[in-house]
Amino acid sequence: MKNRSLVSINDFTKNEHLKILNLAEKFEKNPTQNTLKDYVVATLFFEPSTRTRLSFESAASRLGAKIIGFTDAASSSVKKGESLKDTILTVSNYSDIIVMRHPQEGSARYASEISPVPIINAGDGSNQHPTQCMLDLYSIRKTQGKLNDLHIAFVGDLKYGRTVHSLVIALINFNATFHLVSPVELKLPSSVKRHIKDKKLNYFQYTDLNEVIPNVDILYMTRIQGERFADPLEYERVKNSYVLNNNMLDNAKKNFRVLHPLPRVNEISEDVDNNSKAYYFQQAKNGVYVRQALLTSILGVN
Ligand code: CP
Repeated sequence: MKNRSLVSINDFTKNEHLKILNLAEKFEKNPTQNTLKDYVVATLFFEPSTRTRLSFESAASRLGAKIIGFTDAASSSVKKGESLKDTILTVSNYSDIIVMRHPQEGSARYASEISPVPIINAGDGSNQHPTQCMLDLYSIRKTQGKLNDLHIAFVGDLKYGRTVHSLVIALINFNATFHLVSPVELKLPSSVKRHIKDKKLNYFQYTDLNEVIPNVDILYMTRIQGERFADPLEYERVKNSYVLNNNMLDNAKKNFRVLHPLPRVNEISEDVDNNSKAYYFQQAKNGVYVRQALLTSILGVN
């Protein structure tokens, strides 16, 4: 993994995914170290973020790295018309690795092709979010004790949800059964579904959330991505399609857990938060350990 960019979840093999998860387990036991004291990590966020940026910065800080970057492109020379190419070539002079979130699909791949330092894709439009995927895999393995042969329900915005796209593709390697719950307008894109079909894995499509809860191990809730809709009226029509509340979990399996990449808007009622099956805040915490594993592996210092 040394010096390689992580743009798509498929950039790393299944074995490499497992290596990252195993290393993240070690960081969870011992998160404060000095291994990156000679490194500078740049975080360039052209789109808003709470968890991804702060967990990367927390991960890097706990390993002794210095952090530079911006949280709003309007505070950078992008505001003056500077291109993505010039921004990346400039920041690569100041840092050893660049973590970038950008609204345009394909922007991270482009950055990785021109950058002399590795690029980590922290979300490119509605395409992919591979580091979220790694922490999702970590959270699934931690709660289920395994990754193989699980029934996973994806709920909400399967069309624009980049975390869904990355996780579906990763779970192909673990013989998952996919339960896809969405409004008809927000079904999983055929380009992602193709991966399930190619592996001849089972998938089922639903519009009713209640139907899947008793039959699955993981319920992966997602926000309807209002910012990706061309027509605001269409967003208004589907925005509250699914709202999970505590009563709906009565018939869930013992090992069942609710995951959500967050932020949530209305799709998980706050009365779920104290249910022992709610795992989304712990999931966000796992992001620090997984991102420590990714940074050290890509920088080649573990
Ligand atoms: N999960 C996730 O990407 O959250 P942020 O948008 O807050 O980074």
